[in-house]
Order: sequence, then C-alpha cells, then structure tokens
Amino acid sequence: MSLYRKNEAITVITAHDFPSAHVADQAGIDMVLVGDSLAMVALGMDDTSEVLMEEMLLHCRSVARGAKSAFLVGDLPMGSYEISPDQALQSAITMIKTGRVHAIKLEGGAEMAPTIKKITSAGIPVLAHVGLTPQRQNSLGGFRVQGKTTASALKLLQDAEAVQEAGAFAMVVEAVPAEVATLVTKKLRVPTIGIGAGNGCSGQVLVQVDMLGNFPPGRFLPKFVKKYGDVWGESTRAMQQYKEEVKSRAYPAVEHTYPMPEKELKEFMG
Ligand code: KIV
Ligand code: NA
Repeated sequence: MSLYRKNEAITVITAHDFPSAHVADQAGIDMVLVGDSLAMVALGMDDTSEVLMEEMLLHCRSVARGAKSAFLVGDLPMGSYEISPDQALQSAITMIKTGRVHAIKLEGGAEMAPTIKKITSAGIPVLAHVGLTPQRQNSLGGFRVQGKTTASALKLLQDAEAVQEAGAFAMVVEAVPAEVATLVTKKLRVPTIGIGAGNGCSGQVLVQVDMLGNFPPGRFLPKFVKKYGDVWGESTRAMQQYKEEVKSRAYPAVEHTYPMPEKELKEFMG
C-alpha cells in the first residue's frame, strides 16, 4: 500500500513451495501469491477446479516458511467460498491460521461484495480478482479476454468499484485490454495488479514457472507471459550431463569422494 501511495509499481509473483517462495523473497518481490494455479504447475492437474483446500494449505505453509519479507496471499480454491459469506469467512480463517499467509484472494466481482465485506470485517485482508476469473472458465467460455466490448468494460469497472467498496485492499485484473485496465486503475483508490492487463496497472503478477521458463518446449503460453529465464532448458542440460557422466563413470571424480587415511587403507586392503 505504501508503494501504491508512492506510485511505485508493485511486484507480485506466485510461489507454490519452499524453494519457489525463498527465491522470490531473496529477489525482493513485494508480494507472493500462492495461486491455485499450483494445481497445474505443481500438482499436474488439468485446471484449478480440482485443487482442494487441504492441498492449498500444505503449499501455503511451505511458502510461508520460504518467504520471510514478502506479503503472503493465499488463493481460496474453488468450492471453499461461493456458498455463503459465512463459508468464505471460515475458509479465510483456516487459510490464515493453518496456511500461515497474511491475506486471501478470491475470484469475482460485484456478486462477491458481501463475501469480501464479511471477510475484511473480521480483519482478514482480501485481494479481489476481476476480469478473467479462471475458476469460472466453464461459464466464461474458456480463457477469454474480458472487457473487450463497451458493455463488458463497464461491467468490469462496476465489479472493480464494488470489490473496492467491499473492502478489498487491492485486486488482480486479469486478461483485459490495456486501455480498460488503465481507466479502471485511475478510477480506483486501491491498487490493481495486472496480468495480461497492460502497463497501466498499479503492479504486475506472473506465474513463477511461466516467467522462469520452467516448462517443456511447445507448451501453450498466454500472450502476456514474458519468459525471463530458461530454467527448463538449464535443468534438462544439467540432468543430461549428470546422466552421461554417471554412465561414463566420469562422476564422481576423486574430489567428490571421501579418502581413507593411507595407514588404515593398507590395513583394510590387507
Ligand atoms: O492462481 C494464480 O496463479 C493466480 C494469478 C495468476 C493471479 O490467480
Ligand atoms: Na488463481
């Protein structure tokens, strides 16, 4: 929030376990999100709808142990908050107490306002998520850019204002035209964290494995992802080299072995 007041861009990245949180924290990332995208990137599921609260909690706790300075947000998984504000508050409390995060994120616009109000009234910060909301991909007709028409851009603005009024401290704005996200950002007094929403947002978020390039070649990548690294390539190279060196017995070399004192060795070898 102080970054927002200083008009400094807020950096957000996802993490799903101890090492991915540790590296984000060491890099000085402002906010770490345990996104339910871990369903795909860490658990190999097809989409986020499969991930369970208990799985999110296990990953949140490992992230909390890895990130010491970043502000930590846990994603409420599908099914843990839609039924009623009471259900959502219960899930939010569980995520804070058991998941050891500082805040929760949930998807949805104006229709989630009473829920956001309930959770924030209990003193739990809420990061809202408007625009493309992946948990609702089946009713949105897949992963589609939102706010492309005047009507849907106005709907997005109404959603953003509603979640702000309900008490969200910030909101993720996903997959909307840059002009729309910029206008929404200007109209609000809480930060927008863009993903596929252009450069006019208050901050940006990316899925860590995507931006690190930690996935096999040929995988589909959304247009907004920038690959800042080639972790998959480097991991593959290292493992192939290890394999070759074990096969050729080049590894382990003398420097990787524990010597026995000369005298003992003689005695032992007889
Ligand atoms: O689950 C996730 O990683 C997210 C971010 C991409 C915003 O919701
Ligand atoms: Na998510």
